[in-house]
Amino acid sequence: MSDRTILIVDDDEGVSESLRSALIDEGYTVRVVGDGKTALSLLRQWEPDLVLLDIWLPDIDGISVLEKIRQEERPIQVVVMSGHGTVESAVKATKLGAFDFLEKPISLEKLLVTIHNIYAMQVLRQENIELRKRVGDAAELIGESRAIADLLEQVRKAAPTNSGVMITGENGTGKELVARKIHDWSLRQSEPFVEVNCAAIPEELIESELFGYERGAFTGATARKKGKFELAHGGTLFLDEIGDMSLRTQAKILRVLQEQQFQRIGGAETVKINVRIVAATNKDLSQEIERGHFREDLFYRLNVIPLYVPPLRERAEDIPLLVTHFLGQIAAQNGRKLKPIDLIVISRLQAYYWPGNVRELKNIVERMFILSTGETITESDLPPLFHDPKESGGSLSGTDELFRKPNLKGAKGDFERVYITKKLEEFGGNITKTAEAIGIERSHLHRKIKNYEIPS
Ligand SMILES: Nc1ncnc2c1ncn2[C@@H]1O[C@H](COP(=O)(O)OP(=O)(O)OP(=O)(O)O)[C@@H](O)[C@H]1O
Ligand SMILES: [Mg+2]
Repeated sequence: MSDRTILIVDDDEGVSESLRSALIDEGYTVRVVGDGKTALSLLRQWEPDLVLLDIWLPDIDGISVLEKIRQEERPIQVVVMSGHGTVESAVKATKLGAFDFLEKPISLEKLLVTIHNIYAMQVLRQENIELRKRVGDAAELIGESRAIADLLEQVRKAAPTNSGVMITGENGTGKELVARKIHDWSLRQSEPFVEVNCAAIPEELIESELFGYERGAFTGATARKKGKFELAHGGTLFLDEIGDMSLRTQAKILRVLQEQQFQRIGGAETVKINVRIVAATNKDLSQEIERGHFREDLFYRLNVIPLYVPPLRERAEDIPLLVTHFLGQIAAQNGRKLKPIDLIVISRLQAYYWPGNVRELKNIVERMFILSTGETITESDLPPLFHDPKESGGSLSGTDELFRKPNLKGAKGDFERVYITKKLEEFGGNITKTAEAIGIERSHLHRKIKNYEIPS
């Protein structure tokens, strides 16, 4: 138990002495004063958690001492005691925020229960505050690397403008977090942030998702429905995985951006909108443009402010902070105690290649926290991939073969192919489980399997 401090304010030495020794026996740190003025000056220097306050004091009365305590910035709990307990002063004291009112002669048993309750409540309140902090932190962009500092600086500059923002970066690097930050730091922060995952919505539904429809526009349209553009009015529309949007939809979006207005499906009414667009993709859009998969004019309109989120392997110095952050989050979510993590584990994590970036790190930290049996997370809690260095390279014997690749892209491709093949084996070919374990989305894993021609 940390030091729990109680100040007794009573001019009756008999009373204060018996309370003092009883509370000391219970492990509290106790001080006694006999008048109001001394009590108030001691409060500042000593900062007790709790004051046991007699209503009748020789100098100023207890109620005005209580009022002064309430004006302190720090919350101090007060229990009022009185030998002349009237309902009136009890009511007054509780109105002024006293935790409880005890009549003299004080029942020690009752007093101890009251004090116990006060501390129990404080612990709860503290836990609540921390929990809320952590939940709020879910959207916190963690990192102290140069790369993250630069990125945040750019985000800060871009946020208050209305310009289109294009966020690029590998899977799981934190593109969505960046998009939310842009909104949160913009003048639109109290307006809606609406997300559209262009890869997840089937082509035949995307138009009605984006623009909404009028009643009777098609079979099943029994009522008017607002689309994402309309829902985002005044705020930010986040077009995620924009590289996966069809050319047809791209044309429609472009028109809306140019005209700042559109019509719902099956409607004649023109809906005017004021929406800031933030888009994200893990594709190389200039390549997609060359291939004729992405409209150049739309690209230029969205790419006014380009933001690049670097992969985790290029900012390994962020890993300790991220690990601590995720451990705290996971412990809080599961109502479990924080577990310390061995330094060697951190360095092993820092040496890894992280194809699934921060999402993969988060998954691995969560897995280690849940599965570890000891008091500390140790090297043996690392997933199998980390156990045998040769294993991680699969059929690539060590890294030599990788180094013979003419360029980074080739080496990366080789690594990914071997890594994904191994992981698929590990999970018996189950795409959902494999995708989850390596921290990428299913659709993305499917694409990689196809691209690398991995037999499945
Ligand atoms: N810097 C960071 N600090 C804290 N959490 C992060 C950070 N970067 C990413 N994360 C977490 O990692 C996960 C993946 O991030 P996010 O969804 O933003 O990535 P993404 O780039 O949009 O990925 P994808 O391309 O796969 O959609 C999320 O749970 C996110 O909260
Ligand atoms: Mg994303």
